[in-house]
Amino acid sequence: MEIIKWNELLSPYQLAVDELLVKFRHVRKDYAERGTYCPIENVEGRVKSVYSILDKARKKNVSADMITKRLEDIAGIRITCRFVEDIYKVSEYIKSRQDMPVSSEVDYVQSPKESGYRSYHLIIQYTVETAFERKTIPVEIQIRTMAMNFWAVVEHSLQYKYNENIPYDIRDRLSRSAEACLALDNEMASIRTEIMEAHELFQKKANVVQSILNNIRKLYSSGNQEQVLKLQNEFFTIYNSDNIGALQEFNYRLEKLLAENGEQL
Ligand code: GTP
Ligand code: MG
Repeated sequence: MEIIKWNELLSPYQLAVDELLVKFRHVRKDYAERGTYCPIENVEGRVKSVYSILDKARKKNVSADMITKRLEDIAGIRITCRFVEDIYKVSEYIKSRQDMPVSSEVDYVQSPKESGYRSYHLIIQYTVETAFERKTIPVEIQIRTMAMNFWAVVEHSLQYKYNENIPYDIRDRLSRSAEACLALDNEMASIRTEIMEAHELFQKKANVVQSILNNIRKLYSSGNQEQVLKLQNEFFTIYNSDNIGALQEFNYRLEKLLAENGEQL
């Protein structure tokens, strides 16, 4: 066996993680621009460290030359959602994408592990093109709610501390906190519509205010500056009334003014 060049070996995995982060973050941006609720709350990614790769290979009895064939989570993406329902929306979305073919999936949300661990796992076969080659590599995507993530992150660090032999009393507490997380997810599911509406209202307001300010700036540089200052004052009055309909109407007026100015220019 030759010496393993870890940097070269892991480089396409890093590229896969980087590309997938850009893609999922862009999905969030697309939703935000439309002012609609996005089922993806947050995306993180990492390439497993060489130390963790070796550690896992040893535990799973995988020889060094079989590491990339047998370990499917060298590249990992974690998507957190607000609600359990969103997990399924995200997993369906991933399955519908041409560039993320799913080779396996496990639903630990419906069937939690004995530890209390809940998450939805997908392995995709993702193709990257590096400077020298085209390579298809497995990427593990974990999809979970924020409550599930809180529990999993804490439990994982305890597993690490106790080398996977967590004392019984702590395991018991973890088991009870897993139940509390499940109860929290259920409670949140029952007010999902309210939370989503609040989120969308905020996003729509933010978008319209942004658009108004851009339009005022455009009018200022192209038109009657005294009139634009009056418009700015009017904007503040409408803004303080906290009425999205009035803000939208005001923005519509600005757009009409801009169009008229455009015709004159
Ligand atoms: P692994 O050796 O854990 O990869 O087993 P596997 O290949 O059968 O996959 P599995 O779906 O069980 O686990 C994959 C990943 O999910 C792990 O690397 C962890 O990140 C996470 N995971 C699975 N079980 C647990 C758990 O009980 N607690 C925590 N905190 N994370 C878990
Ligand atoms: Mg795995």
